Amino acid sequence: MLKSVLQTIDARRKQIASSLADFLRIPSVSSNPAHAADMQRCAQWLSGQLAEAGLEAKIMPTRGHPVVLAKSQHRPGRPTVLFYGHYDVQPPDPLDLWTTPPFEPTVRGNALFARGAVDDKGQVWAHVQAILAWQEHGLPVNLVVLVEGEEEIGSEHLAEFMGANHDALVADIAVISDTNQFARGVPAITYALRGLVYMEVTLTGPSHDLHSGLYGGAVPNPANLLCELLATLHDKQGRVDIPGFYDQVAPITPQEREMWRTLPMDEAAFAGELKTTPIGEAGFSTLERIWARPTCDINGITAGYQGPGAKTVIPSKASAKVSMRLVPNQDSLAISDAFTEAMQQRCPRGASIQVVCHSHTPAALVPMHSPAMELAAEAVEIGFGIRPALIRGGGSIPVVGLIKSILGIDTLLVGFGLPDDRVHSPDEKFDLDALHSGTRTAAALYERLAHLEGIH
Ligand code: BES
Ligand code: MN
Ligand code: MN
Repeated sequence: MLKSVLQTIDARRKQIASSLADFLRIPSVSSNPAHAADMQRCAQWLSGQLAEAGLEAKIMPTRGHPVVLAKSQHRPGRPTVLFYGHYDVQPPDPLDLWTTPPFEPTVRGNALFARGAVDDKGQVWAHVQAILAWQEHGLPVNLVVLVEGEEEIGSEHLAEFMGANHDALVADIAVISDTNQFARGVPAITYALRGLVYMEVTLTGPSHDLHSGLYGGAVPNPANLLCELLATLHDKQGRVDIPGFYDQVAPITPQEREMWRTLPMDEAAFAGELKTTPIGEAGFSTLERIWARPTCDINGITAGYQGPGAKTVIPSKASAKVSMRLVPNQDSLAISDAFTEAMQQRCPRGASIQVVCHSHTPAALVPMHSPAMELAAEAVEIGFGIRPALIRGGGSIPVVGLIKSILGIDTLLVGFGLPDDRVHSPDEKFDLDALHSGTRTAAALYERLAHLEGIH
């Protein structure tokens, strides 16, 4: 039966790519309130597609953007799979750096370019099309589909939604396609993700902006003071200088080190493509730094005049957005508290400080060797024709922790992207071969996971 489903997918290859363009044309930017109506429209559109693929689909409100929830007709005795994805996308800015507009999907080379092409609409689409291809035979597993609209803003309302709809979400295993392959020709399953704590620090000096000639030198300048404060975040060795920051960090095991050493990582190409030099914590390779070491990075600084040319002004306020990527077993709340306390204690004289935590997501770790992992590896091999590598990922997906804590199950992170897809950047793309192999993998995965029966 799988053979016939895969043939259907092969025959529909072109249609699958062109219908994905309809999904990508909807500017579902979750962070921008101006797109609230587009979020609704996108959820409606997706729910319609899932219904056409034979699922019972509905849109469910949350205190934020709606969730699309769908389920297949129940087959007694079959295992239940929870598929998760997100239909929201990152803002497309800066617009002038896109070769073609972000919400006008365009094929160039062998890839489809658009915001959300790979993160995550294209990967969700691979699953929708796999489900559609199974329709005439009936899906081999019971399937629950949960596609949310707030992943890119930290999945703020998802825990509440999952708690309230617990019974509808009960499953044996979860599947997410929102990560990437190791390289072209090296498909992968991800067994760990970093966590994320996102903070904002604001320093306030004088009550309003001042002429830098009439007042300069006689009043505190919060922009100067913020630079001083942020400079304390790292020591000279590039380590994060916040008390307790490394206390819970799980060391890299010799087995993992060895496993990663065998991956075809090209450090020169990694740096060359970015026209820069890799730097980081001494004693760790680039992969180790991205996958298994925590970070602290300024993501944005704002103060004073930002327009063209010069304007002489001492700003009243200065602020910085700071992200910390976490690894197992760091506690995201404890790290947020440690950051806040360090900043407050180090607040330079003459400024008042405000520290806000925007989101906190713990790192995720799934068992590397399990029956489900083996079935997923078989599915990737069917889909891509190559056995997958086992890798970690440097990014974060908040729901993985929620799936474990609320539903008590593990997640298979079977992603189809390529490392150079420019996620979150201008000219985001999804390789058309990856879309095709990914759709085949999704179809094979639902067939393989039917064999989970009896082992739980
Ligand atoms: N899909 C990404 C995460 C990702 C990409 C993990 C590639 C591994 C490989 C996800 O949409 C994302 O961007 N997550 C955010 C987290 C969020 C809380 C804003 C991130 O990692 O910045
Ligand atoms: Mn994503
Ligand atoms: Mn993302």
